Amino acid sequence: MTIGNKFKLAAILNIILFAATVYGQNTGDKGINPVDKTRIDNLLKTMTIEEKAGQLTLFMSGWDVTGPKLDNNYKGLIKEGKVGALFNVYTVDYVRELQKMAMEETRLKIPLIFGYDVIHGHRTIFPIPLGQACSWDMAAIEQSERIAAQEATAEGLNWTFAPMVDVARDPRWGRVAEGAGEDTWLGSEIAAARVRGFQGKDYKAGNTLMACAKHFAAYGAPQGGRDYGTVDMSQLSLYEWYLPPYKACVDAGVGSFMTSFNEIAGVPSTANKWLMTDLLRKDWGFGGFVVTDYTSINEMVNHGNTENTKDAARQAINAGVDMDMQGSTYLDFLPELMKEKKVSMATIDNAVRLVLEAKVKLGLFEDPYRYCNKTRQEQEVMTPDQLAFARKMVAVSCVLLKNPKQVLPIPENVKSIAVIGPLGDSKKDMLGNWTAAGEWEKCVTLVEGIRSMVNDNVEVYYEKGCNTNDLDRSGFDAAQKIADKADFVILALGENGWMSGEAASRTRIDLPGVQNELAELIVKLGKPVAVALFNGRPLAITRLNNLPVAILETWFGGTQAGNGIADVLFGVVNPAGKLTMTFPRNEGQIPIFYNGKNTGRPYNPADSGAKYVSRYLDCSNDPLFPFGFGLSYTTFAYSNLVTNVNGGKINVTVQVANSGNRDGEEVVQLYVRDKVGTITRPLKELKGFQKVLIRKGETKSLNFTLTKEDLAFYHPDLKKFFEPGEFIIYIGTNSQETISKSVVLN
Ligand code: NOJ
Repeated sequence: MTIGNKFKLAAILNIILFAATVYGQNTGDKGINPVDKTRIDNLLKTMTIEEKAGQLTLFMSGWDVTGPKLDNNYKGLIKEGKVGALFNVYTVDYVRELQKMAMEETRLKIPLIFGYDVIHGHRTIFPIPLGQACSWDMAAIEQSERIAAQEATAEGLNWTFAPMVDVARDPRWGRVAEGAGEDTWLGSEIAAARVRGFQGKDYKAGNTLMACAKHFAAYGAPQGGRDYGTVDMSQLSLYEWYLPPYKACVDAGVGSFMTSFNEIAGVPSTANKWLMTDLLRKDWGFGGFVVTDYTSINEMVNHGNTENTKDAARQAINAGVDMDMQGSTYLDFLPELMKEKKVSMATIDNAVRLVLEAKVKLGLFEDPYRYCNKTRQEQEVMTPDQLAFARKMVAVSCVLLKNPKQVLPIPENVKSIAVIGPLGDSKKDMLGNWTAAGEWEKCVTLVEGIRSMVNDNVEVYYEKGCNTNDLDRSGFDAAQKIADKADFVILALGENGWMSGEAASRTRIDLPGVQNELAELIVKLGKPVAVALFNGRPLAITRLNNLPVAILETWFGGTQAGNGIADVLFGVVNPAGKLTMTFPRNEGQIPIFYNGKNTGRPYNPADSGAKYVSRYLDCSNDPLFPFGFGLSYTTFAYSNLVTNVNGGKINVTVQVANSGNRDGEEVVQLYVRDKVGTITRPLKELKGFQKVLIRKGETKSLNFTLTKEDLAFYHPDLKKFFEPGEFIIYIGTNSQETISKSVVLN
């Protein structure tokens, strides 16, 4: 070979190497460059079976307990090379100390991954994910994860157990707080935005986190809304309603997946080979690694699909589950299982390879201390910009549910404000569930937010009135007194921060304790009253809704809660949030969601006396507040809906006018009903939306396009395809108030 040819060959190799590196950076797949592949091959040849089992083991430190406590000597095990990753550890010093053990005291010096539940922020806490979802603002959601990643990586972390993308239609389930709500299509958009936010373009960048899509699969559909409960549904429902957001994460390049605690059709997810291997890897092409949820291998003995933990470990690894979170089962049993030929070395090697590839992609082999930068820890956490963004995120997550006689925004001439209620000055509750490294002491409460908004001439009084969740009425008098002397009353009502989230299912989802009574008492004084609701799930607030009060849903807003809510209450921000989960009238309507079917005997409100129809005797079928609902301080009028078919697509145009007195943003929603299908179709399915700013007096013309792919659905053979025929296109301000037009697409 001539020198020139050698150069050419080297150049080509370099291009391949570069392409492989770029390809491997953010795809969560096997795109690892040849040098790293050789490194991994060599390690696999060198490792003992115990060291391999160690790489497949994730333990938590005692810093933050997020599940049943299982004591292990994790520090000792790190030094023996028997730990591959750690969670619930953060701050540069502590991460460095533990990483040092792996790098200096183990035989093979393989760096550890550090994970944490960075669910809605790391130090700067944003609104709970369900609240953020109500912003319908993908760029803002992505940015909140970007900031979370920035902060978490500045404190030593490189892996987050998020996003949670479980579709949920049952507000009794406390973990609805962590997801995007009930809609599959919107949930998929949000899932992808979150993965992009965490991982950025390159998760070797040092300030991006590897994301983990969870909980695979269908954890959001437990029977009775009881956490960890059994899930059983048709394959069609699974494919159509529950799986797409996980798939959206794969398509967005997510680096890891977490199994779910539940069983589906009798098989615990952590032992489900069809889910973890056939569907996830073979059909969807996922190339990252799968971690269990917390001790979910051990829990199979309780599920009853195995007699002992050792066999549970066999089932999990053979199903395609690569890493055991906290259960120690791989560490304890893989060596034996391999010797007994119940698990092959190829299976173990494959799992180890995926974990090592993740370490390569995170840049840990190049620099194990990449995420241990003290300057970053000091300078990149809770910066003024991050806090300003958090405040904005609070405001865009708020949903105005009711505003009779334009109680809100608070009039400028108000001279005194009484804030009353157990959530009005409770810093601890503002973070909601999954607080990561958030410090509740730094939270801004509603009273604080209001005080810093008004000038010195305005008095702001505060009384708790009652607790959130007991029958103590001794504070009512004091509350009445301050309401009496104020021009305007704000009631801060709802759930405690711990009443939603993991292991926080409830059967009664009205306001707990005596809060309704307090509200009724205060309203009797005849003052203008606005309620700020704090909660991690849709509430059945029919009783509160009967009062002539404004209601602003604020969720749990995080660090800047009080400031962001005050922005909305005073009209600095015109609310534009829309519910992504239906609010029921009462618990008997659950599960309740907008995209149900018509049935053979649909209820027709025009014939309300009909007996043999699908209805309740004691309650309307309609929810209290439907999916997509949310008011503004201005109003919007929809007109001129035009559809036409062109080139196999439906083009939709609509005009939306701001018919009120303020500039405002509107989430214009597009729903479709496929009139006839070989598989019956829902009454409405969200297929698109646009969030637009429309100035007062302005009319905007908006265009949407629907392709056959958008209208395709799953069939009994689990193939997704389009069926020609009539479609009704609905456009509107929520899933119920729409204008519509029929169109045929063949
Ligand atoms: C159990 C939860 O289900 C999961 O979401 C979380 O990531 C782990 N615990 C770790 O804290």
